[in-house]
Amino acid sequence: MQNIEKLYTPGPLTTHSDVRAAMNRDYASRDGDFVQIVKNIRQSLPGLYGLGDDYTTVLLPGSGTYGVEAVLGTVHGKVLIINNGAYGARMVEIAKSLRIPYIEMTYDETTPPNPVDVEKLIVKYGSVTHLAFVHCETTTGMFNPIKELADVGAKHGVCVVADVMSSFGAVKFDAQNVDYLVFSSNKCLEGPPGMAIVVAKRHRMESSVGRGFSLDLNAQWKYMERTGQFRFTPPVQVVAALDVAVRRLIAEGGVQARAERYTQNYMTLLFDMRRMGFQELLDPRHQGYIITSFRYPTHPAFDFNVFYDRLKARGKVVYPGKVSSADCFRIGNIGDLYPDDMRALTAAIQETLVEMGLALPLC
Ligand SMILES: Cc1ncc(COP(=O)(O)O)c(C=O)c1O
Repeated sequence: MQNIEKLYTPGPLTTHSDVRAAMNRDYASRDGDFVQIVKNIRQSLPGLYGLGDDYTTVLLPGSGTYGVEAVLGTVHGKVLIINNGAYGARMVEIAKSLRIPYIEMTYDETTPPNPVDVEKLIVKYGSVTHLAFVHCETTTGMFNPIKELADVGAKHGVCVVADVMSSFGAVKFDAQNVDYLVFSSNKCLEGPPGMAIVVAKRHRMESSVGRGFSLDLNAQWKYMERTGQFRFTPPVQVVAALDVAVRRLIAEGGVQARAERYTQNYMTLLFDMRRMGFQELLDPRHQGYIITSFRYPTHPAFDFNVFYDRLKARGKVVYPGKVSSADCFRIGNIGDLYPDDMRALTAAIQETLVEMGLALPLC
């Protein structure tokens, strides 16, 4: 297996050596020391967004989708799902498979949802109990308007579910009107993969009922509240490493500092990519700084698989595209990455383009 130096992906991503080091030992899942680690993570996360004791944290083993499914499992009414990318579409798939009544509001992958239209639909249907949407749609890298959407939900007494998978920890937003924030260990928190996380309003957790057995959010929460432990065997190394990652985020200066570092990464990348002739998919007004979709160069000699392999041979892993309407690839700015890492990537891209015989303009 090739030695990869850096992952420029939306997660799993490049982690700090201290985070990886925490996984290099054994932990007893019901021991007091481990229970303390769980407690620290649960207590730290709401505070990153200035949320107090009226919010509570649930940890669930699994990937981020497990968390989305567990939260949607608490819907016993009708959910309005906004779909402008693969992860909004996945929420629809989950609702279908759980047989939860839903209304799907679809937008093109390059168009942000309009809160005014969302409000009209809530009013029109009357029976909507939940509003679910993705904040940073990783499909494209778009930031959807989380506060405006949450405000619409709150105004109509609708429970708001936000998939903040690829923004939590690195994008500042007002979460006061969000009832459920769902994310995972392996994105902007810079932990390893293996844990879904839900920060929810306590009164929602107290009054709702989950679905399924191992993905029953409320059962997991109640057990954690009572014992400080997981119901079933947790991925102990992942939890311990996540604790280190959360402490690192706080030491870095919290969400604001991480937002600044990732923004610098993004600006550095964008400057060099544009210089090489690459074009972004999204209108810059909607583009977030987490991950960017770049259109394939129109040159007939461009082959993404060759491009990918040659970058990988240089120790740098980028990410394939996911949009259905255009040929794109993606580059993530998140993880234990700094502007110098972005410059190292764009230098490798330049070398690769020369090697592939692509005549892209260079100043
Ligand atoms: C916005 C968003 N939601 C949900 C998911 C699903 O997470 P997972 O692949 O960890 O299940 C992802 C994964 O990239 C994502 O970016």
